[in-house]
Amino acid sequence: MKVIVADDYEIMSREAAKIVAAEIRKKPDSVFALPTGGTPLGLYAELIRMHKEEGLDFSRVSTFNLDEYIGLPDGHESSYSFYMYDRFFNHVNVSRDKIHIPRGLAKDPEEEAATYEWAIKRAGGIDFAVLGIGRNGHIGFNEPKTEFGSLTRPIYLAKRTIEANARFFDGDPDSVPRQAISMGIRTIMNARKVILLASGPEKSRAINQTIHGPVTEMVPSSVLQLHPDCTFFLDRDAAGELKPSPNGFIPGSGTRSMVY
Ligand code: GLP
Repeated sequence: MKVIVADDYEIMSREAAKIVAAEIRKKPDSVFALPTGGTPLGLYAELIRMHKEEGLDFSRVSTFNLDEYIGLPDGHESSYSFYMYDRFFNHVNVSRDKIHIPRGLAKDPEEEAATYEWAIKRAGGIDFAVLGIGRNGHIGFNEPKTEFGSLTRPIYLAKRTIEANARFFDGDPDSVPRQAISMGIRTIMNARKVILLASGPEKSRAINQTIHGPVTEMVPSSVLQLHPDCTFFLDRDAAGELKPSPNGFIPGSGTRSMVY
């Protein structure tokens, strides 16, 4: 595992954007898994800048969002679909027919999840997964105790996640949907390359457990220790509890890299 620790959130976001852009330049028809939440906003903003100022071309890229709430009305401002168009898709040239987000209003969420998993396979699998992380180590909406063999399916949100995500629902936990459709752990682990972004002290415990702890379904993100090509992009606060790497630091400008 490679860990890049940036001095601050902006540098972290820019470093992550460089890797995403490099992937698109190398393979213009790359298939991405994309996250929501507060953390990737800087990454999306930087990718938009690269599109506008440097001509970064998304026209052949396919995207699959990691997850979506079940039951929010169409166009609800807290839905992940609204978030993705508002914060990213409306500002770059991703082809609309290459955007995939689980339909949280599907009549049969089980069937929707199976169709989604199949669509990922049909697209050739995920080349590059971008992840955030929950305070309890969830990735996508794969909460603690999720089986590592899980595929895309409907899930129930953990109480802690409902509380953390209430900030996107006017601070009201009762407005947060109880269920979502999420890619599974195996869906994510099948991606050829994975990066995970984390910022802020409230993520430092989960990050330490992810990188140094045992690989356990109690900390879903710990499974990434088993991924052959996974890089963590952290700001200093998120890296606050990490032990120094036995392999030392690789200095960079505003960042340092560690290999575990
Ligand atoms: C949600 C999403 C996750 C995301 C996590 C962290 O629960 N389902 O994909 O990684 O929140 O969000 P934030 O970046 O806002 O802390």
